[in-house]
Amino acid sequence: MDVVALVPAAGRGERLGYGMPKALVPVLGEPLLLRAVRGLIGSGCVHHAIVAAPPDAVEEVRAAVAPAGGAVHVVPGGSQRTESVRCALAESARVVPDAAVVLVHDAARAFTPASVIREVVCAVRDGADAVVPVLPVADTIKQVDADDRVTVTVDRARLRSVQTPQGFTPEVLHEAYAAVGDAATDDAGLVERLGRTVATVSGHPQALKITTAFDLAIAEAVLAEPFP
Ligand code: CTP
Ligand code: MG
Repeated sequence: MDVVALVPAAGRGERLGYGMPKALVPVLGEPLLLRAVRGLIGSGCVHHAIVAAPPDAVEEVRAAVAPAGGAVHVVPGGSQRTESVRCALAESARVVPDAAVVLVHDAARAFTPASVIREVVCAVRDGADAVVPVLPVADTIKQVDADDRVTVTVDRARLRSVQTPQGFTPEVLHEAYAAVGDAATDDAGLVERLGRTVATVSGHPQALKITTAFDLAIAEAVLAEPFP
């Protein structure tokens, strides 16, 4: 049964500072979003992509992803990421009503290796309700008070930083979005609020989120000379 990826791409890219939606920013000649969607479809285990675009740039986004082929749909997103995912989820229920797995993958993580995408899909196919790719935390993490004074050093052994794609059964993701009141920074967080278990698989440094010009410089260097 089919796998559908929801691709929130409706952000404004303020921190990247290109004066255009981040999804449309060219990276070595190709828009970031096109690279993200090609990565999903090219992994061989994603059959449809539903992109949430900035409402005032839907046509530009359609043109940008056209080279990825016919399995890609573009809908207007919302003012918060959660709203954008909700828009794409509604469209996916219409376009792929019998999907077996739903992924949610930030357009900003355009360089995620195919192996990570495949592992997430396999984990859901093997029975997980929800799965996230994670990396151990390399830095020491400290908590501060309102005056920025350190209150505690957190034991990082059990901490993980979380990437996308995050994978779900369609039932669980629909239930999570039906229940949500306020915004969340990731989709698995909504599933956690339902009291469901969220599994993990290994993420990858190349799945970094392009947030700043520094991140983009790293991505361009990796594209020019891939590392294992
Ligand atoms: N996103 C979205 N809809 C929004 C806000 C964000 O679909 N209203 C998407 C972004 O396009 C991105 C992902 O969510 O793919 C992660 O968001 P972020 O990295 O914060 O991107 P931007 O919101 O574009 O960047 P900034 O916060 O710097 O403006
Ligand atoms: Mg943002």
